[in-house]
Amino acid sequence: MIRTVVVVGALLLGVGVVAAQQDKVKEAQDMMKANGKNLGGVLSPMFKGEKPYDQAAVDAALTQLDDTAKKLPTLFPASLKDAKWEGDFSPSPKIWEDKAGFDAKIASFAKVVSEAKAKIKDMDSLKANFPAIGKECGGCHETFRVKKG
Ligand code: HEC
Repeated sequence: MIRTVVVVGALLLGVGVVAAQQDKVKEAQDMMKANGKNLGGVLSPMFKGEKPYDQAAVDAALTQLDDTAKKLPTLFPASLKDAKWEGDFSPSPKIWEDKAGFDAKIASFAKVVSEAKAKIKDMDSLKANFPAIGKECGGCHETFRVKKG
């Protein structure tokens, strides 16, 4: 009897762990999708002159990127190593194998975003500072993100 309780308890615990893991996966994916929307849907069209410059939209986009930079250090805990990633991308195992390298990418992304927040005040400063942000996204993805399929 006690044994059954222990086994059922352990199974329930297992289910709880998997659910928590999937929550973390979703958190990371939602955050990255928001980055993509802000970069590709807000900043890039302004940079290319397809949309008029809009300081409020720029500030909101940069604030979200800054938020990502602050969350990135805890966005991929070791418990996600064997998690299931739906969709087109998954994290590379290098995130956990080369933690120092990953942390360095986060630090340089955080620096570029905070500089952009301080500097982007008009079209000229957007033009001057936007490319560096995109480079940071690509720089991390190149090593630490895997395209599936
Ligand atoms: C320090 C590393 C790092 C930085 C910086 C980074 N990303 Fe990512 N990104 C990842 C990893 C790892 C994944 C794969 C796991 C995931 O989807 O969360 C990813 C996934 C994505 C995805 C796919 C999400 C999905 O599931 O469809 C998009 C879109 C994305 N990133 C956009 C961006 C943009 C735009 C920036 C820059 C503003 C950026 N990322 C900066 C590491 C990074």
